[in-house]
Amino acid sequence: MNTKIITINDPAREEQSLQEAADVLRNGGLVVFPTETVYGLGGDATSADSSRKIYEAKGRPSDNPLIIHIAHPDDARRYAVTCPCYERLAKAFMPGPLTVILPRRDIIPTETTGGLDTVAVRCPSHPIAHALIQEAGVAIAAPSANRSGKPSPTCASHVIDDMDGRVDMILDGGECDIGLESTIVKIEDEDTITLLRPGAITYDALCMVVANVNVAAAVSERLGENERPLSPGMKYRHYAPDAPLVLLEGHPEDVLAYLEQEQNRIRCAILCYDEEINALSSASLHPVGKADDLASHARLLFRNLREADCSGPDVIYAHLPPKEGLGLALYNRMIRAAAHTIKHIPSR
Ligand code: TXA
Ligand code: MG
Repeated sequence: MNTKIITINDPAREEQSLQEAADVLRNGGLVVFPTETVYGLGGDATSADSSRKIYEAKGRPSDNPLIIHIAHPDDARRYAVTCPCYERLAKAFMPGPLTVILPRRDIIPTETTGGLDTVAVRCPSHPIAHALIQEAGVAIAAPSANRSGKPSPTCASHVIDDMDGRVDMILDGGECDIGLESTIVKIEDEDTITLLRPGAITYDALCMVVANVNVAAAVSERLGENERPLSPGMKYRHYAPDAPLVLLEGHPEDVLAYLEQEQNRIRCAILCYDEEINALSSASLHPVGKADDLASHARLLFRNLREADCSGPDVIYAHLPPKEGLGLALYNRMIRAAAHTIKHIPSR
């Protein structure tokens, strides 16, 4: 398949490109588009055929359900059964990086939901995503636009690496702002939700809107052999670089001393704080931003993992993030990319 790549800077001025992309979607084709979190691999959410094509392009098991993207929070009613708790969450966080699991209406085929009776609904804030959904006139099912097992793409060149020749069109809208996938919650009852995947809408932010916020065990712990995750996606090994990723925990000075020593011993790629660049000499250094700038760590994580891996290292080292605020989303992605390998560096 020949993939058409279109650069869009300002959606208001590029209506023709957006119309073309929306036509592709309405005719059952696949279009990759930017969102504020990561790039999505989109197809008509109401078409079983389109959803099958998405799984094929991604190389993803078809029991892993897709998120449907809507232009306005109220559009959820067409595809799912909403409730006052959804309305409260939507008022607080939509459009934005929040996905809510709701009972599915029949207009959404089970091919889109991996056989489930629920559907994941998200209303992205990115202007290109918004304009595309609006123009298509239908919800767009979209997983992250990476090949299964790769980090989610946060710029068009990563999408092209994974998807060129496998989709009809790629809309290049530059870098994604947030860089980590949306927060996913499931509504249990009017006052209770379960956090299934942490993202830029933090646990604390959710607690301001809903009285009880449970956190699924798989968010920060390893699932047992026979445990079934609440969100099917959690059982797959994700975001995995080819080289082993090791997360370092300890006093910053001790961790830096360890890195200085390791870079002379083995070929290591290092995701380092900006403050550490001058002390390190590895040929594969990947700055993540200032030590306390979690938004920057998040925005650059998937790019850094891809680039670190490209240098063909024996090992990739990174700092273990905190579990607070946006840190929980980083922690969740990083422990899974590292297959839970955390090394504690003792004080000297
Ligand atoms: O930020 C995002 O959410 C990005 C952009 C493109 O919107 N999309 C994304 O999709 O990350 P994906 O497919 O890579 O991740 C969707 C996750 C999966 O882990 C899946 O298991 C979970 O959502 N999910 C989808 N529908 C579900 C449902 N009905 N019940 C439980 N989990 C669900
Ligand atoms: Mg994904």
